[in-house]
Amino acid sequence: MKNILVSGGAGFIGSAFARYMVARYPQYRIIVFDKLTYAGNLDNLLPISDEAQYRFVRGDIADRAAVKAAFQEFEIDTVVNFAAESHVDRSILSADAFLHTDTVGVYILLDEGRAHGLECFLHVSTDEVYGDVHEGYSVEGDGFAPNSPYAASKAGGELMVRAYHVTHGMNTVITRGSNTYGPYQYPEKLLPFFITEAMDDRPLPVYGDGRQIRDWLYVEDHVTGIDVALHYGKAGEAYNIAGEDLRHNIDVTHDLLGKLGKPETLIRHVPDREGHDRRYAMDASKLRALGWTRGHTFEQGLEDTVRWYADNTWWWRKIKTGEYLEYYQRQYAARLAAAEQSRP
Ligand code: NAD
Ligand code: DAU
Repeated sequence: MKNILVSGGAGFIGSAFARYMVARYPQYRIIVFDKLTYAGNLDNLLPISDEAQYRFVRGDIADRAAVKAAFQEFEIDTVVNFAAESHVDRSILSADAFLHTDTVGVYILLDEGRAHGLECFLHVSTDEVYGDVHEGYSVEGDGFAPNSPYAASKAGGELMVRAYHVTHGMNTVITRGSNTYGPYQYPEKLLPFFITEAMDDRPLPVYGDGRQIRDWLYVEDHVTGIDVALHYGKAGEAYNIAGEDLRHNIDVTHDLLGKLGKPETLIRHVPDREGHDRRYAMDASKLRALGWTRGHTFEQGLEDTVRWYADNTWWWRKIKTGEYLEYYQRQYAARLAAAEQSRP
């Protein structure tokens, strides 16, 4: 029996992982441990809420007593850590919560995990630690060059994971995922934000020229990548999980408008994100050598994602109120006004 603590498991990718693990491994117990920040949502876990092998605990990974209590109560032997502040734009507005969770929180989880005698600690990280990749593809041994406060706080967490492996001999594995999309993604990230805004015929604020490049990975493929790394990854190693499907933001925007049957006149080119990385690109050969393959093309994944948001308006309409609208005002009001002024 494995008792797996899935921290951050009420968020987008963590909840997909929890749902997948319950279906795939009936012999494991899945304990979701989540602070339920603005991005955490118990609706994401409704499909497994009645499963006997699943439990939910509300808690902060930076709260030592809460982490220790969960480890003891559920006899945790494995941690898969998704918990993070995950949105670059919010980290530009203020980085406090990012340091708290993505760096200090990771340290607390590791330290309590070590004291508790964990068998395995898998840490979910990001391609953003490599920074802007002008050409070629990042491999796992490349150096870090994080450019946003989000990426820097994730790099800090990762380095602590490395230190606990080297110094204390902990069995750690790190995964670095690329831009992930799919059902249940909080509608602040490019795809769910633009899909849901376009459905309501609202403007789509494309940062700068929209020629930035991201590598798109369907959430189910990210989750199977983590599963493979968890079961077959080597202690102390990191593994890239890449869609290896590079696209310009503006092309992605045209694609989603096409799928929704909405006009391109919704596009607004607004002032760019500060410190905006132009291109991310990773090589996933190391994970493929363990047996992982990507199951979805971008075309299929986008089709499924657009359909999911169309069929599940109950899920995102509840979110687009209160704090969400305040954030929208702070992030977009001035940008959209500037775009309006510069329109011919
Ligand atoms: P998300 O923002 O949807 O979810 C984050 C979850 O963490 C939420 O449920 C939130 O409540 C929880 N959380 C935040 N602070 C916490 C704390 N102190 N203690 C406990 N729980 C806390 O994020 P996501 O997109 O699902 O990303 C999950 C992980 O994957 C993150 O570590 C992120 O850095 C990484 N990642 C994301 C992507 C992507 O494209 N979304 C790509 C690569 C890596
Ligand atoms: O690369 C992995 C990372 O991908 C993860 O580590 C992060 O958690 C995740 O948020 C994501 O970061 P990005 O900054 O790449 O994702 P975001 O969806 O915020 O933006 C994708 C691209 O779209 C980026 O170039 C900025 C641009 N963009 C985004 C928004 C929200 C716009 O042009 N307009 C927007 O309104």
